[in-house]
Amino acid sequence: MKIKIINGPNLNLLGRRDNHIYGKETLRDIETWLHSKVNSKDSVKWFQSNHEGQIIDEIHACIDSYDGIIINPGAFTHYSYAIRDAIESTKIPTVEVHLSDIHNREDFRKISVIKDVCIEQIFGHGKTGYLNAAKILFAYESKKRNI
Ligand code: DQA
Repeated sequence: MKIKIINGPNLNLLGRRDNHIYGKETLRDIETWLHSKVNSKDSVKWFQSNHEGQIIDEIHACIDSYDGIIINPGAFTHYSYAIRDAIESTKIPTVEVHLSDIHNREDFRKISVIKDVCIEQIFGHGKTGYLNAAKILFAYESKKRNI
């Protein structure tokens, strides 16, 4: 199975950004950790951008080449209808992930405009959220193959 993990704005600053909320690990640390947890026959590729258009291009680039997407759109979660439409248009099963508990922070973080086009929303589990999202996509794929 091929999975693309897409991270949005400011996630490149993990490790130095609000450690009490996001922890001390960098995005690269999380990437290395996740790679050690998934089966080597599955391909998991990481992408990060601070730019909405680049994130949309990356989602489009997954068409016909990826079986699943894990996306942490950062603050775009809360207002980017363009990212929402990109996910909806590709029809690639997508899981939304947030390191922090977005439902127990500022009110604006409680709203996700992409939630409805994702198969699940995971929040508040730190890096484990990415692993749980991968497990959801593996299960989704194997169910699809057995139909
Ligand atoms: C985040 C939560 C967002 O509200 C925030 O803007 C982020 C990170 C998370 O992973 O908890 O950049 O997506």
